[in-house]
Amino acid sequence: MEKPHILHLFTPTGQASPFDVNMAYDAGYNAVVPYTQVTLDQVTTLTQDAIFSRGPKGARRTGLFIGGRENGLAVDMLEAARKAMVPPFEVSVFVDPSGAFTTAAAMVAAVEKHLKKNHGTDLDGKSVLIFGGSGPVGAAAAVLASQAGARVGIVGREDTTRARSTAEDCNRRYGTNVEPVDASTASLKLSMMQKADIALSTAKAGYRVVDNALLAAASRLLVAADVNAVPPSGIEGVEAMDDGKALQAGSGKAVGIGALAIGNIKYQTQRGLLEAMLKADKALYLDLRSAFAEARRHAGVV
Ligand SMILES: NC(=O)c1ccc[n+]([C@@H]2O[C@H](COP(=O)([O-])OP(=O)(O)OC[C@H]3O[C@@H](n4cnc5c(N)ncnc54)[C@H](OP(=O)(O)O)[C@@H]3O)[C@@H](O)[C@H]2O)c1
Repeated sequence: MEKPHILHLFTPTGQASPFDVNMAYDAGYNAVVPYTQVTLDQVTTLTQDAIFSRGPKGARRTGLFIGGRENGLAVDMLEAARKAMVPPFEVSVFVDPSGAFTTAAAMVAAVEKHLKKNHGTDLDGKSVLIFGGSGPVGAAAAVLASQAGARVGIVGREDTTRARSTAEDCNRRYGTNVEPVDASTASLKLSMMQKADIALSTAKAGYRVVDNALLAAASRLLVAADVNAVPPSGIEGVEAMDDGKALQAGSGKAVGIGALAIGNIKYQTQRGLLEAMLKADKALYLDLRSAFAEARRHAGVV
């Protein structure tokens, strides 16, 4: 009898994400086992415990998933797991803390799709503002947009402390050029918005961060995308199902992308990567870049 497909889900947090558990079963895993409050220095032992018990063939039917809330820690855990492998005892590893990598990948791929479709252009050289960019989704989106050639600013809503620290983390880890943007006063907010080609809302669920007054100042805006599915939407006038719908903004040519349109690509991306692990003949290490490549396929960008 074939061995079952088992996914060991490591998270530094107190709970595994039910979303990730559902996704893994729906993709075809027979068992999903959560390990909570996992520390970085426990990853080697846990990984080696998982790889040796089933023989090299069984290892192909074993996977690791790394969650949590911190992008940097999750990537460090992926690297620790990679180093712990003893080929041919090697299993696939997928890192997606808080769904941030697949969500950010879906968001940036959707923006690319609409830049191309509605404006005949791409992210290269564009000015991208990320509202709520100090969270995991925004930070991952900042990395992807910067790597695609955009000038990326993380909005510092109250001051630039969190935005600066997030930008520095991204730049140190990925060699990007993300910057904090001071939006602590109404006039700073308006002047930053006047220079934006793209606005991304990745703020905490249920908070509106871009209103009509800000949109009216956005004289260059091409695309506005929002991942917040909890009303009110993060960007006024962008509804959850919008997928390239015309948006009232100062530029007169902006389109909006809503949370469920992005969520659809995110779902297909996460599912596609889990299925790739199930089918792979050799171990896969799936990170932010892998998520972006998969999301671009589902968005129809490549
Ligand atoms: N559509 C999907 O498939 C999908 C999947 C996963 C997540 N999401 C959504 O993606 C968004 C980001 O997720 P996340 O986990 O990165 O978010 P998060 O960590 O909860 O929050 C992101 C940022 O929001 C800002 N924020 C906090 N309180 C705020 C307030 N009162 N007003 C305005 N901004 C506030 C903070 O940045 P500053 O304080 O520095 O401004 C925070 O770092 C959420 O809306 C989440 O629901 C969507």
